[in-house]
Amino acid sequence: MKKPVIAIDGYSSTGKSSISKVIAQKLGVIHLDTGALYRGITWFALQNCTDEDHNINLSRLFSSLPQISLEFKNDNGELILYLNDQDVSKEIRTNEVSSQVSLVAKQKEVRDFLLNTQRSLAGKGGIIMDGRDIGTVVLPDADYKFFLTASIDERTRRRYLELLSLGMEADEQQVRENLIQRDRIDSEREISPLRQAEDAIVIDNTALDKRQTIDKILSYIK
Ligand code: DC
Repeated sequence: MKKPVIAIDGYSSTGKSSISKVIAQKLGVIHLDTGALYRGITWFALQNCTDEDHNINLSRLFSSLPQISLEFKNDNGELILYLNDQDVSKEIRTNEVSSQVSLVAKQKEVRDFLLNTQRSLAGKGGIIMDGRDIGTVVLPDADYKFFLTASIDERTRRRYLELLSLGMEADEQQVRENLIQRDRIDSEREISPLRQAEDAIVIDNTALDKRQTIDKILSYIK
């Protein structure tokens, strides 16, 4: 039986990645968290392409893109992001990366660079990809498309608890502001904005826990 291609898009901290990971295991397909790719580029830029005032210098980043290799390695079913052969899975989750990633992700050069990477990782199917433009741009012919949303209060709570569980310092108000700002930049950008695909199934999981959201998505997949 042909394995499905599934696109999951939606707002920040709606649980897209952790939900996709479980669904991938259940269906025996690969899971690709595309946000990790944008975070990887942002981390690289913060390390290598900043001005004296520590702001990212975009033209330096654009000319460095060809030197960046992004690879996911399978570690007991978990895909770990390697950037130029370095495991950056923890580094890409810091507040510094979170606060800069939307600015990097709205650049055409960066999106073009990652579009090829994402499509080639999708390969011959049997994949669940989560992000912001998967159903609209990256995999417009996906077999199933879902769009996740939840209230800002609930998303703030989830992100705050996630940061604490990663052993990182977090301020709830700052987390909330970062989410609002990211959603705004992601939705208002010119290229591939965060938008629900016309044929996507919308799931508001404000009142659903992870298991209930997973069951709901699985109920649509034949
Ligand atoms: O899913 P995430 O929060 O890790 O994503 C980080 C950022 O990357 C998000 O603010 C927008 C950007 N992104 C994107 O523009 N397109 C995608 N397909 C995935 C993420």
